[in-house]
Amino acid sequence: MQAVIAVLPGDGIGPEVVAEGVKVLQAVAARFGHTFTLREALIGGCAIDAAGEPLPAETVALCREADVVLLGAVGGPKWDDPQAKVRPEQGLLGIRKTLGLFANLRPVQMHPRLIDASPLRPERLQGVDLIVVRELTGGIYFGEKRRERGPGGEWASDLCIYTEEEVVRVVRVAAQLARRRRGKLTLVDKANVLETSRLWRSITTRLMRDEFPDLQFETMLVDACAMHLIRRPADFDVIVTENMFGDILTDEAAMLAGSMGMLPSASLGSGRMGLYEPIHGSAPDIAGQGKANPLATILSVAMLLRHSLDLAAEAECVESAVAAVIERGIVTADIAAPGQPTYSTAVVGDAVAAAVAG
Ligand code: IPM
Ligand code: MG
Repeated sequence: MQAVIAVLPGDGIGPEVVAEGVKVLQAVAARFGHTFTLREALIGGCAIDAAGEPLPAETVALCREADVVLLGAVGGPKWDDPQAKVRPEQGLLGIRKTLGLFANLRPVQMHPRLIDASPLRPERLQGVDLIVVRELTGGIYFGEKRRERGPGGEWASDLCIYTEEEVVRVVRVAAQLARRRRGKLTLVDKANVLETSRLWRSITTRLMRDEFPDLQFETMLVDACAMHLIRRPADFDVIVTENMFGDILTDEAAMLAGSMGMLPSASLGSGRMGLYEPIHGSAPDIAGQGKANPLATILSVAMLLRHSLDLAAEAECVESAVAAVIERGIVTADIAAPGQPTYSTAVVGDAVAAAVAG
């Protein structure tokens, strides 16, 4: 098959991990006889430096023309001034919103060899296999923001707003996923306090009764969920939640898999277009040192092959290659067992690409 892939490396470790993702894509193309045309563009801080804005029109145009987008990470101390009018993160939020990618799938799996990389006790991690479906284009991330001066000094507000349509479409994605998995859906909200959460809860409860009566459905408050993710993580199958709760809970859930460097993600809309990125950030503290774990990006490539290009066998090939490389202990420091050797970003990427090549 032929596909055009927009590649947005971004900032910090973004370019390093994306380079390894690209290696793996090329290995897949060679082995399975596909043609992937890669087109690179700027996003985030590097785009602010080069073009004065975090999401140049050129980048948006290139993504729209592509079949799919692979992204690294954005942000860094250079652009962190709280007074700044333009911020790298606006680029990331902007591309998600512009492409209408409202459903962010963040799977969390536990590789048996990495059980010691997690701070949790091994017996708690047995059987962990969950996926968080995070709403990605609404809520407090996109509501009106204000900052003004009043009698009590400065004040600020961030509006959290959701429409029925926004809730229904993402819950449907999550429920359909649950149907193909273990058949359980957990809605995470804060319905004891927030009106948006009460809307989510009533809509989801009705939708589950009317369209998905075959699924096991539960609701859980977000604070309790933060606790249960640590206490009994294997009980979760699919979690669906609003934008900010999903952001926070997936960093927590990453520790079940041993490291932030292990979690891939797929951001999907109503069409075939998808944006694939590791859930981790730009990690400026280790950028440029070859220390970053490329597996989250490589696993995002696997999701890209499966969800947007319909290449299931190719996706499985990449996932098995990752498992084999972990099995052989060719891993970066974040997931290496104590006393075991550690390898650089590029060496890990090379090993996965070689395993894909077969
Ligand atoms: C993520 C990140 C982003 C988010 C930041 C960089 C804006 O934390 O993808 O989880 O909050 O969505
Ligand atoms: Mg996050």
